[in-house]
Amino acid sequence: MYSRFLFLFALSFFYILSTDTIYVTRAQTSPMTAIGVNLSFQENHVVLSNGIVQIILSNPEGHLTSIQYNGIDNLLEVRNDETGRGYWDLVWSPPGSPGTTGTSERIVGTSCEVIVETEDQVEISFSRTWDSSQEGKHAPLKIDKRFVLLRGSAGFYSYAIYEHLEGWPGFNLPETRIVFKLRKDKFHYMAMSDDRQRYMPLPDDRSPKRGKPLSFPEAVHLLNPVEPEFKGEVDDKYQYSCETKDLKVHGWISTEPLVGFWQITPSNEFRTGGPRKQELTSHVGPVNLAMFVSAHYGGSDLVIKFEEGEMWKKVFGPVFMYVNSNSTGEDPHMLWKDAKNRMLKEVEKWPYSFPASTDFQKAHQRGKISGRLMVYDRFITDKHTPANGAYIGLAPPGDLGSWQRENKGYQFWTNTNDEGDFSIKNILAGTYNVYAWVHGYIGDYKNVSAITITPGCDIRLGDLVFEPPREGPTLWEIGIPDRSAAEFYIPESDPMYTNQFLDNDLNRFRQYGLWERYPKLYPDSDLVFTVGQSDYKKDWFFAHVNRQKFDVMYDKTIWTIKFKLHEMIKNGTYTLRLALASAQFSDLQVRVNNQNTDVPLFSTGVIGGDNAVSRHGIHGLYWLYNIAVSSKFLKTGQNAIYLTRINEGILFPGGIMYDYIRLEGPLPK
Ligand SMILES: *[C@@H]1O[C@H](CO)[C@@H](O)[C@H](O)[C@H]1NC(C)=O
Ligand SMILES: *[C@@H]1O[C@H](CO)[C@@H](O)[C@H](O)[C@H]1NC(C)=O
Ligand SMILES: *[C@@H]1O[C@H](CO)[C@@H](O)[C@H](O)[C@H]1NC(C)=O
Repeated sequence: MYSRFLFLFALSFFYILSTDTIYVTRAQTSPMTAIGVNLSFQENHVVLSNGIVQIILSNPEGHLTSIQYNGIDNLLEVRNDETGRGYWDLVWSPPGSPGTTGTSERIVGTSCEVIVETEDQVEISFSRTWDSSQEGKHAPLKIDKRFVLLRGSAGFYSYAIYEHLEGWPGFNLPETRIVFKLRKDKFHYMAMSDDRQRYMPLPDDRSPKRGKPLSFPEAVHLLNPVEPEFKGEVDDKYQYSCETKDLKVHGWISTEPLVGFWQITPSNEFRTGGPRKQELTSHVGPVNLAMFVSAHYGGSDLVIKFEEGEMWKKVFGPVFMYVNSNSTGEDPHMLWKDAKNRMLKEVEKWPYSFPASTDFQKAHQRGKISGRLMVYDRFITDKHTPANGAYIGLAPPGDLGSWQRENKGYQFWTNTNDEGDFSIKNILAGTYNVYAWVHGYIGDYKNVSAITITPGCDIRLGDLVFEPPREGPTLWEIGIPDRSAAEFYIPESDPMYTNQFLDNDLNRFRQYGLWERYPKLYPDSDLVFTVGQSDYKKDWFFAHVNRQKFDVMYDKTIWTIKFKLHEMIKNGTYTLRLALASAQFSDLQVRVNNQNTDVPLFSTGVIGGDNAVSRHGIHGLYWLYNIAVSSKFLKTGQNAIYLTRINEGILFPGGIMYDYIRLEGPLPK
């Protein structure tokens, strides 16, 4: 890397002399003096510029064909044709389709309209609609894509209004997003968080000549990459996934000259599945994504399903595409730091005041709630204690925990402080339930009374009390109830697949192929955990997976929990709490003291499709099972619980990740 930095250092002198960045400085220090925004129409194209950045869109399709900045003629991949550089797209399928796939469709505008044209702002719309002549050919949606350029702004905004109208056929919408394909000759450094940023391999390294696909096509072992430093690494876009609560800025840096392209998402309100839903970010290409809807880490429950005639309208965005540069610097971190600062500024400006569409509610049309969340678990203390660091949010009315699968409306989340206090502002007018969950406690909170947000409202909810599921005292527990398997044993990766940039405690679970360590660690028999002796940090493998790669159907593994009951309470009911952090095509069966009974005491049935194990997540969706265990199955002294995971999928690797397991005794009489 040193030689690269030296080279860049030399280059940066060249750029001091050759590039004119004066207007950048001026724009950043006093935007009011920046030149106005200019709009012009050329043959089949629309050009928006403000002296800092110039963007060109195809007319009327509304694909981005060029982003010009800091002396680079086009930041987008000029070798792709004009429809494949920067575009909104979606995946759709006929109603009732199972799974998470469908037909991919770029959203092609058929009409272009100037919405705002002033010195301070140009906003342009590219829209399409639908009629029955397109049945089966295009997703039945009316879509209005907007692009906005403001005076003095180093970047542009985009948002879109999606509508499904009365009389239109039902359909499924598994995915929608904006894709930016940047120039591969320039953008080599990628940053999506402080701990995950690096020089990236080239897309060519994934070709059969240079790389070998591993257990699935997304993961490619780089055997003969263009840059020898990447030899032996695994390239897999899922290693750059991120929970949406943390996914506010990510992008790419060109080192020659030092220019960054960033996608900033200042609010999570329009994304699906709540704050811990995981999405893709940037990956080898160089590709940068603004994900709005996907089934990733959730499965088919996250696919939006529309009934025939169902009326629906939603605004996705605005998101901000920020560009920055540094003619004196040579360190790409500086641009990452600057992009993070810019993200914070965009978050402060939310909700934006500039979008011209009345479908985007402005600050004065939104409302606020506040309150305090308390926890009451009488087996821990008879007092109400403040829920500190809890997740609390508003999502459309639904069942307990329904927000993690919710995908048609808007959600608004925050974390409580040490005192359990919370406030959520800028909530769109509408009706919601209040949901929460608290680190260290199982289950979900939902307040039964729906609340209605009206423009300007300030609703004080007072004290909300979460009583987590509980029937009796804790006899033993494994793990921490936090909807993740991160506290369990995460093995070292196979040296053959180790990616250096993930070789730290924070990201270790993102290494490729950890599931293959299980049969290596347990070559002869499955995992046995002895309460009182074993340590879940060392002795509980983070994922309950298959042993064999090729014996995929009907394969099962049985994990055992051994525990002693000093005195079994006769004629009582014990309760087993089984909290899962992820499941993939699994049937999990519970047996007590006899692992060979035909009929298990409990079975989850076939659950899950979040694919979190193979996508290097440490959680997918959360599942909580409360299982009554009659004392007739138990005895004083040594007992065992057998957890049998039956693989019901054809995909390897499948698996279950546990969040937490607890046995509660009966209430003493
Ligand atoms: C540009 O780089 C210099 C030297 O590395 C640094 O001091 C400065 O803060 C950077 N500016 C920006 C805007 O990143
Ligand atoms: C539900 O919310 C109301 C305020 O809307 C509050 O008074 C009540 O105590 C809450 N219930 C629980 C169980 O937290
Ligand atoms: C066991 O419980 C059942 C139902 O609660 C009750 O009818 C029965 O009398 C109990 N038997 C003993 C021996 O306590």
